[in-house]
Amino acid sequence: MQPKREYWSTRIGLILAVAGNAIGLGNFLRFPVQAAEHGGGAFMIPYMISFIVLGLPLLWVEWTLGRYGGQRGHGTAVAVFDYIWKNPIAKYLGILGVVIPLVVVVYYTYVESWTLAFSFFSLFGSLPDTTITSSVKDYLRPFEEFLSSFIGVTSESDVFLKPSVWAYLFFVVTIFINLYILFRGISAGIERVARFALPLIFVLAIVLLVRVITLTSPDGRNFLDGFGFLWNPDFSALTQPQVWLAAAGQIFFTLSIGFGAILTYASYLKPKSDVALNALATASVNEFAEVVLGASIAITASVIFFGAVATKQIAQEGAFSLGFIALPAIFANTPFGEFFGFLWFLLLFFAGVTSSIALSQPAIAFLEDEFNLPRKKAVMYLGMFLFVTAHIPIFFKGALDELDFWIGTLALAVFALLEAILFMWILDSKRAWEELNRYADIRVPSVFYYILKYVSPLFLLVILVSWVVESLPSALAKTGISIWVARGFIIFVIVLGVVLVKIAWSRRGR
Ligand code: PHE
Repeated sequence: MQPKREYWSTRIGLILAVAGNAIGLGNFLRFPVQAAEHGGGAFMIPYMISFIVLGLPLLWVEWTLGRYGGQRGHGTAVAVFDYIWKNPIAKYLGILGVVIPLVVVVYYTYVESWTLAFSFFSLFGSLPDTTITSSVKDYLRPFEEFLSSFIGVTSESDVFLKPSVWAYLFFVVTIFINLYILFRGISAGIERVARFALPLIFVLAIVLLVRVITLTSPDGRNFLDGFGFLWNPDFSALTQPQVWLAAAGQIFFTLSIGFGAILTYASYLKPKSDVALNALATASVNEFAEVVLGASIAITASVIFFGAVATKQIAQEGAFSLGFIALPAIFANTPFGEFFGFLWFLLLFFAGVTSSIALSQPAIAFLEDEFNLPRKKAVMYLGMFLFVTAHIPIFFKGALDELDFWIGTLALAVFALLEAILFMWILDSKRAWEELNRYADIRVPSVFYYILKYVSPLFLLVILVSWVVESLPSALAKTGISIWVARGFIIFVIVLGVVLVKIAWSRRGR
């Protein structure tokens, strides 16, 4: 017997929950770094094109597939693929929709826990001081060293990280917060948290935005320089494949597409709910949080303080350079800086939590739907898995990046391509279109039919091929204990997934 499926209790709650899924560290940490690293205004054109031809269409696909599965009592791509494609291999391909978010949440939760730790550090004044000098590097050094010693990067040559006790403690606390929310379930846990976290995220972001806009630098730069850096289009960059890859990658990450997590959330829709407008609404909220709020805080502050050239260099230093180093260093020499630092990291934490629970839910849904496990048991298994495997990014230097490359970047495009092909080509495009427009509160313009059928898959294919050409050789050439541990872990999770699917299906006697 199938246990009764849970549902989102209200439409606004559902939109906030899915917006919380999408709005995350990607909007406030990843976007500024990607945009600045790829030249600000040069990044925005490929970014917007990717949103139209990949982001929005694929989001509609995932929502529709999710509702389709939910109506049949299943909330992951495993069963959905199996319904759509009468081929025994379909369900095994579908396990990617569980494996991808599961691997990502392992390192995502760890980074999320840093934000919680840093918000406490800001509040209690334990972040370092720094004095204004003409050298940006010198100015940032104390903050760079602080982050390094927090996560335990000691010498360049070390294989292992030696994280501080605080890093470990905050990680444990963060895991428990996540598990507690998941334990409460869809409407009493996830939806409830989103109802208060999403408004809070917006309030915090707007307060920070006002703070940043009113910053000035001794050299006379102000926020207009920051906005100009991002919003003056640079058409020359359109010929650079790396900029396109980065922009498309960011669209995937920020909209949570190609993970399977949107599919799972959409499976908790009441069976006759709209998906067309809901998907558009959450995409819009996410983009507002990304290009208006996310972009304007870290980038603008850094351009005002250090200038556009230095901002680009800071972004090239790594994914955490703007959010964990530059911004708190800027706040350190402004009035009530520690308070604003506190708000910044708190914002990141809330954005992170509403995303990490979304990354965890597919695995829980898989255990519930395919093994009939009660939710609490499923959450407990997930908790044990997370707790044990998170030691990989916590202790192996470079493992986080390795996981993020294979799973958090490459696998997304592969899985999204599978979804698009299954939906528009195997299900049959007429039926797929009907499925999307059923119970819809808006009419999806029919140009999207063609975009979905031809443009998105082709664009995805081009992206995948160029990715493979651009970065696969150097990615494969990497070696070292951490690299192999990370790869071994990925293989382990995939094998585990395949075995579980096999067991589930043999039990069903199909
Ligand atoms: N979109 C989230 C972010 O921007 C990441 C995420 C992906 C969350 C997939 C849930 C599912 O940080």
